Amino acid sequence: MKILVAGGAGYIGSCTTEYLLERGHEICVFDALLNGHRQAVDPRAKFVKGNLEDYSAISNAIHDFQPEGVIHFAAFIEVGESMKLPGKYFRNNVANAMNLAEACAQNGVRKIVFSSTAATYGMPKNVPIKETEPTIPINPYGESKLMFEKVLRWYHDIHGLQYTALRYFNAAGATPVHGEDHHPETHLIPLVMQAAEGKRPKISVFGTDYDTPDGTCIRDYIHVLDLAQAHLLALENQDSGAFNLGTGQGHSVKSIIDTVKSVTGLDFPVEYAERRPGDPARLIADSTAAKTVLGWKPQYDDINAIVESAWKWRRLYPNGYED
Ligand code: UFG
Repeated sequence: MKILVAGGAGYIGSCTTEYLLERGHEICVFDALLNGHRQAVDPRAKFVKGNLEDYSAISNAIHDFQPEGVIHFAAFIEVGESMKLPGKYFRNNVANAMNLAEACAQNGVRKIVFSSTAATYGMPKNVPIKETEPTIPINPYGESKLMFEKVLRWYHDIHGLQYTALRYFNAAGATPVHGEDHHPETHLIPLVMQAAEGKRPKISVFGTDYDTPDGTCIRDYIHVLDLAQAHLLALENQDSGAFNLGTGQGHSVKSIIDTVKSVTGLDFPVEYAERRPGDPARLIADSTAAKTVLGWKPQYDDINAIVESAWKWRRLYPNGYED
């Protein structure tokens, strides 16, 4: 398949590009390199530097490459920042993304696969979370993702553009050559590893009084290559809709810190701090629908293996992509 990957220079986009190339697909990466890295673009992929705010840039890229499918990773991802700068999130994650949807519809793209998020659910009542759980986002980031899911539904109904929204839980891990290099880093596993490497003095645990067995928040960490597999299955599938992607297992913040200590063999200071505003106590996916409808078969159900893959990548790229 010819596949255009918007945001293919970012963490999940670069890992998915590698996964698709390994399976013989032809890829064009379209990325503005605002947060992504040129070095993260697989050399086997065609690369177009462009921003989704520029309709002609994305439309020309799609017209020239003639992809059958498009994957959209090119969004802003920081929950905390979205609470300070909502306009930045709605402008890029909704308005600019609409240029991509429009360019797909105008150029005969069959299917778009969209990186959505568990943040569309807000504070869920029922955990593990099914796709039928009400979507009530509690921050502009989650709201912007949900809004674009709705935009896609109308492009499907009116223009016949097939879509799959993949609601990721906590993406983690790395391939041997592509990994997580965010500036600033806000995610738990890379931050704990920075503490292990001595690049930060300590790791802070945000809240120890949650209604969970050890009092810290529980998340469902899903390997980035399992996410990649779901994108390919979604492109091959003709239906439209939203799917949760997670392992169905929850790990507390404290247990993740212990896992990093055991995988790295390194010790480091841990500080018990106040809650971070907006954190739900438990987010665990029910991914039955992705398994039955898409045929998704996640390969990594062991948190040690997920953390080990991230650690291996960090040891090969101690300073990230350095571009
Ligand atoms: N945490 C700490 N200390 C840190 C960083 C994080 O204790 O230094 C905690 C958080 O409070 C949270 C857990 O570790 O309880 C995981 O936090 P992350 O920031 O790694 O991930 P989130 O669960 O907040 O966010 C992820 C994705 C978002 C998505 C969200 C869905 O990164 O894009 O899941 O709710 F929106």
